[in-house]
Amino acid sequence: MGVVSVLGNATFGARPFPAFATRTTPVTRVFSGMQPSGEPHLGNLLGAWVNWVAMQERAECIYCVVDLHAMTSPAEHEPETLRARTVELATGMLAVGVDPERSILFVQSHVPEHTECTWLFNCVAGFGELRKQPQFKEKSEGRGESVSVGLFDYPVLQTADILLYHADEVPVGEDQRHHIELARDIGQRFNHRFGEVFTLPKAVHPQAGSRVMDLQDPTRKMSKSQSSEKGIIRLLDAPQQIEKKFKSAVTDSAADIRHDRAEKPGVSNLLEIFSGVTGTQVETLAAEYDGGGYGPFKQAVADAVVERLRPFQDRYRELEGDRGEVAALLARGAERAREIAAPTLERAKQAMGLLPPGQA
Ligand code: TYM
Repeated sequence: MGVVSVLGNATFGARPFPAFATRTTPVTRVFSGMQPSGEPHLGNLLGAWVNWVAMQERAECIYCVVDLHAMTSPAEHEPETLRARTVELATGMLAVGVDPERSILFVQSHVPEHTECTWLFNCVAGFGELRKQPQFKEKSEGRGESVSVGLFDYPVLQTADILLYHADEVPVGEDQRHHIELARDIGQRFNHRFGEVFTLPKAVHPQAGSRVMDLQDPTRKMSKSQSSEKGIIRLLDAPQQIEKKFKSAVTDSAADIRHDRAEKPGVSNLLEIFSGVTGTQVETLAAEYDGGGYGPFKQAVADAVVERLRPFQDRYRELEGDRGEVAALLARGAERAREIAAPTLERAKQAMGLLPPGQA
């Protein structure tokens, strides 16, 4: 199956999406993004993508490959790699089930309103509140004065991403909670000073998997940039690799299987992953596997993850051969995104007192 059939033989020509372009219907609007900063992993899938896909059933969804954010990562980015990863991540989003017919899928840098709106918000956001952001503190640690202004301003760009689309809900992992709160604060401050322009969003986290931990160090989150090869399950890992990584996952000394993040972080993480990929409650799984030892439990988690990833991996392989279609789809997505973002930006500029061209 090629991309065309995945896309339902879509034509990318002028197709109106009135419900998206105007806010005449009381439908929930969803926005979320992911950085093309490395291969997506199990944390990305369970923390974000599972909800992205599910929310398409009940909301207008807008999903974005946030390439401008990826440029702020402390390790200098390689231009070639960034380009390749942008396409790969968009392909991953399609493979996981983002439906470009129903939802808008686009690349952040294709919609210049994001950067322009960031400037407006830069003049509303406070230096102090940005400096306190946990992700900035973590990523800038030990880097002294060489930290880029982009890294500092990262959450303001994220605020623009969300508010430009009047998003009500933002499906993300637990680590993004502070960024979404900041977006609310900035939006609220703007509305208070300049009039009601922006909708205030709220974060939506999954029941299980909102914070998937590193398999080798279950006190740290699984991360593209910080996890070791053995600590991370990449979504395109081969089944044997996945099995090996789960077998060597760090657990605890007592062999009981129960959920207790403080006492048993390793086992609790495995239970949450198991729950996230199967949809079965953590407590049910714990009751089923307790008493059987870690070996069979780890094997069951590995098998469930392999099964969950199989359709994603198959779909990804089909799609990756058809870059032209993916490019066309992203171009169409950017057009649709601009139809929403441009009028919002215009209203914000006017509210702030910027003179519209041609007026005096
Ligand atoms: P990013 O690219 O780091 O991660 C993408 C999504 O994956 C979630 N995630 C996790 N969830 C559970 N366990 C983990 N170990 C884990 N690691 C990552 C993240 O919470 C996120 O939902 N700042 C965002 C990107 C962004 C964005 C936005 C998100 C830019 N603009 C607007 C929402 C709305 C980020 O760094 O995601």
